[in-house]
Amino acid sequence: MLTTRFCETFGVDHPIVQGGMQWVGRAELVSAVAEAGALGFLTALTQPTPEALVREIARCREMTDEPFGVNLTILPSIDPPPYDEYKQAIIESGIGIVETAGANPAEHVPDFHAGGVKVLHKCTSVRHAVKAQNVGVDGVSIDGFECAGHPGEDDVPGLVLVPAAAQRLSIPMIASGGFVDGRGLVAALALGADGINMGTRFLCTAESPVHEKVKEQIVANTELDTELIFRPLRNTARVASNSVSRKVVEVLDDGGEFPDVRELASGARGRKVFEDGDLDAGIWSAGLAQGLIDDVPTVAEAVERIVSEAEELISRRLMGVRTADR
Ligand SMILES: Cc1cc2nc3c(=O)[nH]c(=O)nc-3n(C[C@H](O)[C@H](O)[C@H](O)COP(=O)(O)O)c2cc1C
Repeated sequence: MLTTRFCETFGVDHPIVQGGMQWVGRAELVSAVAEAGALGFLTALTQPTPEALVREIARCREMTDEPFGVNLTILPSIDPPPYDEYKQAIIESGIGIVETAGANPAEHVPDFHAGGVKVLHKCTSVRHAVKAQNVGVDGVSIDGFECAGHPGEDDVPGLVLVPAAAQRLSIPMIASGGFVDGRGLVAALALGADGINMGTRFLCTAESPVHEKVKEQIVANTELDTELIFRPLRNTARVASNSVSRKVVEVLDDGGEFPDVRELASGARGRKVFEDGDLDAGIWSAGLAQGLIDDVPTVAEAVERIVSEAEELISRRLMGVRTADR
């Protein structure tokens, strides 16, 4: 079994994480990830209220006795959700690990630690990773430019971002963005990470609670089938290419403002894609990893395949690479 200090710190068998995913990070997926020995995160804001999150945590516990966490994504908003109440719900439910994302975790770390919750902070740049380490998080998950969702504005891919972060961090670090298989896991370890985080791969598994048409589209898509929306607003998100995401790019590139695309990019429309399988109903997140995904395995198959491929790569291929005698 492949094990790293990440596994020890966060109490999981495999150095593999399923990051928070809006509308997707529900008990069905997260319990399957936990049962497979990896670390899954329920997505707090997928639940309409903190009380609903408490119920979802209980539902997930009925499906697995293995540890799992909750993602709390804190983004600037005109009408913000009650973040403090979600935070209390996480702590009072006895959850052991939280994945924070979106904003500086400084103000939340003391509360989580006082409640016995370890913090894995997800960020997109070396400077934010170092800041998170300095405010006491237990681990960092660093998203390269390849990732689905918010890659930040620096556009540094994992091949440079991960080793650059590794040089500056002493706490466990998870590489994220574009990972789907054992090759990626071995590469991440070689670059100095202690494991990998995946979104798109887990979105396209049997237990992922989204319409089959979404999974078929991910399998059909290539690494070219994403759009970077909201670039001019400096709030970039990498999403699947479809008529809606291309329209959002076009309107903003032509000088439009957020109100001009608000309806097109609404969460309600994106949710329809996942629930109804209407692929052009709205915006849905997917990363460059689409180009490496060609099936819809169960979560257990996906995790087992990654681990065994990584072990095989390390013990056979890499051990077989010899330096030539001069
Ligand atoms: C459908 C979907 C929804 C996502 N929603 C969130 C979210 O709400 N909060 C968050 O922190 N990250 C979110 N992400 C990002 C993932 O947690 C993860 O960081 C990212 O997918 C990694 O890149 P990959 O897709 O190449 O594996 C989402 C990703 C996907 C595919």
